[in-house]
Amino acid sequence: MTIAVIPQPRSLVVKEGQFVITTNTHIEAQSGAYAVAETLAAWLRTRTGLPIPIQTAETNGDNAIRLTLEADPTQFGSEGYKLQVSERQIQIQASEAAGLFYGAQTLKQLLPLTGMGQPSGILSLPSVEVEDSPRFAWRGFMLDVARHFFPVATIKKYLDVMAAYKFNRFHFHLTDDQGWRIEIKAYPKLTEVGSQRAGTQAVFTRKRLQDRGPDVPETDGQPYGGYYTQDQLREIVAYAQQRFITVVPEIEMPGHSVAALTSYPSLGCVGSGYQVRTTWGIAEDVLCAGKESTFQYVDAVLSEVVALFPSEYIHIGGDECPKVRWQECPHCQAVMRQEGLKDEHELQSYFIRRVEKILEAKGRRLIGWDEILEGGLAPKATVMSWRGAQGGIEAASAGHEVVMTPNTHCYFDYYQADDVEHEPLAQPISLPLEQVYRFDPVEGVPTDKQPHVLGGQANLWTEYIPTEAHLDYMAFPRLLALAEAVWTPSPRASYTEFMARLEVHLERLDRVGINFRKP
Ligand code: ACM
Ligand code: ZN
Repeated sequence: MTIAVIPQPRSLVVKEGQFVITTNTHIEAQSGAYAVAETLAAWLRTRTGLPIPIQTAETNGDNAIRLTLEADPTQFGSEGYKLQVSERQIQIQASEAAGLFYGAQTLKQLLPLTGMGQPSGILSLPSVEVEDSPRFAWRGFMLDVARHFFPVATIKKYLDVMAAYKFNRFHFHLTDDQGWRIEIKAYPKLTEVGSQRAGTQAVFTRKRLQDRGPDVPETDGQPYGGYYTQDQLREIVAYAQQRFITVVPEIEMPGHSVAALTSYPSLGCVGSGYQVRTTWGIAEDVLCAGKESTFQYVDAVLSEVVALFPSEYIHIGGDECPKVRWQECPHCQAVMRQEGLKDEHELQSYFIRRVEKILEAKGRRLIGWDEILEGGLAPKATVMSWRGAQGGIEAASAGHEVVMTPNTHCYFDYYQADDVEHEPLAQPISLPLEQVYRFDPVEGVPTDKQPHVLGGQANLWTEYIPTEAHLDYMAFPRLLALAEAVWTPSPRASYTEFMARLEVHLERLDRVGINFRKP
């Protein structure tokens, strides 16, 4: 039997014999473990067609899959577990339900591929002893649903795969220049107007917009739009919670806000003439940092956001905010004089500090892209480092918390091969699988500052990704390499050894209908 677990557990010892799942197999779980037992039972029933009942009373343990929460809450950490498979029974122990859930994910990977896709009947798995816990607390995946919109079913499919590979943060990039995708009751035009655009940048071939030639129009001229209702977002949050994934919403500000400006033009410095963007890149129009009404808007939007998303962290963007409008805006210039701000970078810092206070009043914490360092970092802000690791290193060194998503290792909108002729259009940079596998979130961070690095995350921007099949192609198998980089302790297995395990997983991905790129 091939044993191929991804991410590789801290310790895995193979024993003699195997456990056979039959009509007599049941799950045993007391109250704190019951929800995970139900999730595992439902999965095993679908997989095998066997009844797999759950009992809350302890039996003698024969034919049991026993899920136990240990009394000592520190024994395994909050997400660690011990999984023992013997001929007689399977036992998963953990300090918290999340650990039981991850033990169950490992258990699922020990099952053979036999009959995946239809009920398999009796299945056996090898006797093993696994002790495992994650290297990092933040194991994330970001999806941009602004440039292209993906339905709830696609989001759930991604949450399923994330859970299988022990990811625990889904960063939901919900707003941008090209579309506003979250229903906000206090500002209904954000979706009525801001979720729609007149077309989409036309060039999906090798050529980029700037060298498209005179006959090719700038956009396809097809109206495009979509958004999630608050009910749908609650459904996504609940689905994620069942899988121990926190949904971290991102509401972009002050830049990447043209969809919001088109909905409510008075939020901008100029105050009129905005259109939800149909092409990619960085817009000069941004939220006005000088009007009180901007902060009333931010407060109202974030009030609804925190009501929907229980996440401790709320992502407020903060990246790629040109300063040209602020330089010419009487409101912005007046605030700069009044607050003694020496340049527009300090005005951005003023803006982010105010947003941090708004979030703090709602009991939440601010996280933003590394540009929030410019002009001075808000006192308690957490930095998501994307322009390499430098911003993260700087923030961690100053004692701030950091999530590493350097574009050098984590940008899945980049090509995964050097030979781009045979690849669908992507950002013109290469990020092959092996480089993702080599990602180390603490690389370059002074040893004593490494505890400030919460973890790492893959980011998938969707300018050139209009379909789910294309999304899968960009995400897989790179996401599996990243899973190991953020879960497995260092030093990890060689890339060659990872590739051997990956081969088994590619077959699994294939059987659940994921259109991965063949390495
Ligand atoms: C980013 O890629 N602009 C965060
Ligand atoms: Zn202004």
